[in-house]
Amino acid sequence: MISKKMEEAINNQINEEMYSAYLYLAMAGYFAEQNLMGFENWLFVQYHEELGHAEKFYKYLIERGGKVKLMAIKEPTATWKNPREAFEAVLNHERHITGKINELVDLAEKEKDRASFAMLQWFVNEQVEEEANAQDILAKLEMVGDHKQGLLMLDRELAQRK
Ligand code: FEO
Repeated sequence: MISKKMEEAINNQINEEMYSAYLYLAMAGYFAEQNLMGFENWLFVQYHEELGHAEKFYKYLIERGGKVKLMAIKEPTATWKNPREAFEAVLNHERHITGKINELVDLAEKEKDRASFAMLQWFVNEQVEEEANAQDILAKLEMVGDHKQGLLMLDRELAQRK
């Protein structure tokens, strides 16, 4: 049986992951408005990944005999100055999520909850990838600067993500 503290922390993380999904769906909509459908595709795939993260925590909590408690998802930002600012927001948000995962790992250690500690290792590794992906796109957007041609090439690249 999972502790009340860990149950509460995982329920909070479900909300964090659902908010991540919501944020990236809002961002997908922002790129669609500008006809940058490759960016839209990338963020739409990311939205689904975040739903998957929330589901992973949800399933784990049930397996451990915990009680799922869903909370209101806050309204995400819906507009950004330009693609670069949007991806700065992605990177900052992923850093925030990494912090939250680390807090969960600390709690699992404190509570000597080995099962949660083991489950969380997947998320520790996943966050390395999440930050690297955002960093990579942001670096390319910085290289592209104000060149429309470069932006369109990057848009075509991001359209490949499945
Ligand atoms: Fe669920 Fe992008 O971290």
